[in-house]
Formats: sequence, structure tokens, C-alpha cells
Amino acid sequence: MRKNFKPQPYLYPQPVLVVATYNEDGTPDAMCAAWGTICDNDAVALVLNADHKTVKNIKRNKAFTVSTGTVDQLVAIDYVGMVSGNEVPDKVEKVGWHTEKSAAVNAPIIDELPMTLECKLIKYDEKFECVYGKIVNISIDERVLAEGGGVDVKKLDPVSLDPINGKFIRLGEPVGNAFSMGKEIK
Ligand SMILES: Cc1cc2nc3c(=O)[nH]c(=O)nc-3n(C[C@H](O)[C@H](O)[C@H](O)COP(=O)(O)O)c2cc1C
Repeated sequence: MRKNFKPQPYLYPQPVLVVATYNEDGTPDAMCAAWGTICDNDAVALVLNADHKTVKNIKRNKAFTVSTGTVDQLVAIDYVGMVSGNEVPDKVEKVGWHTEKSAAVNAPIIDELPMTLECKLIKYDEKFECVYGKIVNISIDERVLAEGGGVDVKKLDPVSLDPINGKFIRLGEPVGNAFSMGKEIK
């Protein structure tokens, strides 16, 4: 027996992402975003409320970075997801993050978050409050790279959002090989 629920953002898994931008005066801002995905081989789509400082910064700078949220940074990630740069313009400094400017786009890279997509604005859809960005570079700290290439997911330790119970969930163990195990069915 299935139970019906009213329409809500109930979808698993949701990523925990950190979107970083520069304010007018060059101080870095960051927010947490769970409504984000890849929408082309080299593009991201993020649903970001138009009132957020991040959106104002993206529209002005035409650039942003998207980093994977990691378990060791959860307190800071949650803080930047609750406090707006509209009220606290130095919130990145407040959480103790260090930043450097991306060489590819006019947006900050947060040193404490090892995997970052560096993006140029494609467009902001006002109706759906959706930012589309072209990924122009991906920078990954060596500390989370696997021997022989790729990312060591255990070292990266990414987080997912449980939107129904309001919990952050650590990514678990591999349970199969994608684009492969389905071949068992003849
Ligand atoms: C777990 C979590 C997920 C969030 N996901 C989103 C999201 O997908 N889109 C959005 O617009 N805001 C989201 N928020 C809220 C923003 O991060 C928050 O409003 C933030 O203060 C905006 O910062 P800014 O005004 O400095 O840009 C989320 C917050 C948390 C804690």
C-alpha cells in the first residue's frame, strides 16, 4: 500500500553544494544549495532564490564556483546556508574559510572544499529561479585524488541532504558498477 503526499521537494539523493561568489567590494560570499544538478556535459543548473546575495553577485560578475560539500565542513556549510550575505557580508571569513580567486572565472575557490566546478553564467531564468552555468574548469585538490586517476570518494567524503528528515547523510559504500551490472539481464 502506498501513501500519497502533497507536492514537495522530496527527491533522493540531493547534493550538498557550496556556491561561492564575490560581493561588490571583492569579499567572498558563499551559500549552501541542494537543488543543483549537471544539465549538460559541461553545464550545471542550480535553483537559487532571486533574493539571495549569491544571485545578485552571479548576475553582476557572470561567474560562480560550485564545490562539493564534505563531512568535515558541515558546520560551516550549514551556517552559510542559514545566514545571508545580504546581512552578514563577511560570512565566509566568519566560518574560517580561506579563498583564492579562480584563474578561470571571477569567483572564489574555497580552499577547505577540495572539489570545485568553476563556472561562467549562461543565464538566470527568473521564472524558475534557475542559474545555468558553463563549467570552464574543474579544480580538485590532490589530497582527494585516487592513485591512478579519478577521485577517491572516501577521501572526498561528500554529503547528501535528506530533505524529508532534515539530515545531512554521508555518502556510503559502492554497491555496483554503473553502465555494467545491468548487462546481467539478457
Ligand atoms: C541544506 C541547505 C540547502 C539549501 N539549498 C538551497 C537551494 O537549493 N536553493 C536556494 O535558493 N537556497 C538554498 N538554501 C538556502 C541558502 O543557502 C540560504 O538562504 C543562504 O543564506 C543564501 O545566502 P546568500 O544570501 O549569501 O546568497 C539551502 C540551505 C541549506 C542549509
